[in-house]
Amino acid sequence: MLKKPHIIAVGGGKGGVGKTLISLTISLALAESGRKVTLIDADFGGANLHSMLGIHTPRLSLFDFFHGKVNDFNALVTKTPVANLSLICGAAGAVGMADIQYWDKLKAIRLFRQLQTDFVVTDLGAGTSLNEIDIFNAADQGIVVAQPEPPAIQECYSFIKLSLFRKLRSEFMDSAWVTQLLDFCNDPAHTRDNRLISTLAEDVRKKDIRLGMRFYRLINNYTPHLILNQIRHKDEIMDGLSLQIAVQDLLRIKIDFWGYIPHDHQIYKSIRSSRPDAITSTRGEVRKIIMRMVKQFVFKEEIKNPNTDNNYVPLLAFLHRKENQEEGMDRICSIQCTFWDKCDYQEGGVYCRMPENEYRIKLKMAEVKETRGDRIRGHLGARRN
Ligand SMILES: Nc1ncnc2c1ncn2[C@@H]1O[C@H](COP(=O)(O)OP(=O)(O)OP(=O)(O)O)[C@@H](O)[C@H]1O
Ligand SMILES: [Mg+2]
Repeated sequence: MLKKPHIIAVGGGKGGVGKTLISLTISLALAESGRKVTLIDADFGGANLHSMLGIHTPRLSLFDFFHGKVNDFNALVTKTPVANLSLICGAAGAVGMADIQYWDKLKAIRLFRQLQTDFVVTDLGAGTSLNEIDIFNAADQGIVVAQPEPPAIQECYSFIKLSLFRKLRSEFMDSAWVTQLLDFCNDPAHTRDNRLISTLAEDVRKKDIRLGMRFYRLINNYTPHLILNQIRHKDEIMDGLSLQIAVQDLLRIKIDFWGYIPHDHQIYKSIRSSRPDAITSTRGEVRKIIMRMVKQFVFKEEIKNPNTDNNYVPLLAFLHRKENQEEGMDRICSIQCTFWDKCDYQEGGVYCRMPENEYRIKLKMAEVKETRGDRIRGHLGARRN
């Protein structure tokens, strides 16, 4: 049996934040590593990937599939000038593309998995419509892109929240009372019902322990990946941090922060002059950063000292879950921790995985060292006096 492709979706709510640029660059990085990649322009309202790859008039596009002109999904796959990279074009300017039927969308999502390729990368359109969210949730890795400005951060938060609720809803289709509860809490008319996701999970658990455990498992495993794009100043990285904290505090899910990408004037210039060579050139700054992210987060290669490249910022957070506190594990993966310098969380890893007993032993040793240090300092101080 053929191996199914690994699907990566790139979304994020706000328009113009760089979803298309990042989808394309991730695809280029994967293709450069020798993997077969099919990039899908799933921006149903404003497809433009083909022109970024120098294809002016697409021969066939998703429009032809959704309107029954083509039945074979594989026939949509178009070669690109880049080795190992194929493209399924979206329909630029086609009326009605944004209103595709629910069943057609599900069929397309199923067909993404049957493509004969190693990776499928889908570039989603702006907004939080169910088209974007369903394709995002169907992916193996969903990346959200945000820009360091309040509207983009807010829309990114909404995108993550709606995607999480949609995921939970689709997983609990067999329990009407859970879907009703989710719909009630997600309905803007009930915004005064400020129940957090963790409270919802508790409510479900109290009523039905089996469903409650399923609920917890789903939120624990739901991890969107974040890329902060178009950074012009280091301080702007804090916006990514506040988004992470908001998501962890309010939705009780982790965000896997892939890093940030600076605003690159070369890209801006090449897009303006309709010469996409700055994007496709392997020497480009964005290409290099994305290649490193792909190696670390898709291929799971060990990257030595990623901090030296300034693409990673310390991440703050540990989910203060009750069960963790009961086990005495309410440690915070932040600069306040004694072992922060050795913590792989700040390099984009997962939060504290040090077992409790090991943590306590290390803490004790650190305390002893510190007391000795104080004694030595005190001794030197006494001598100086
Ligand atoms: N890091 C960057 N440096 C410079 N320019 C960038 C960067 N990221 C994106 N851009 C530019 O910003 C513009 C918007 O990017 P892009 O089309 O990728 O956004 P998008 O999120 O896909 O937008 P839409 O929601 O409309 O599809 C493009 O002109 C792109 O080249
Ligand atoms: Mg786009």
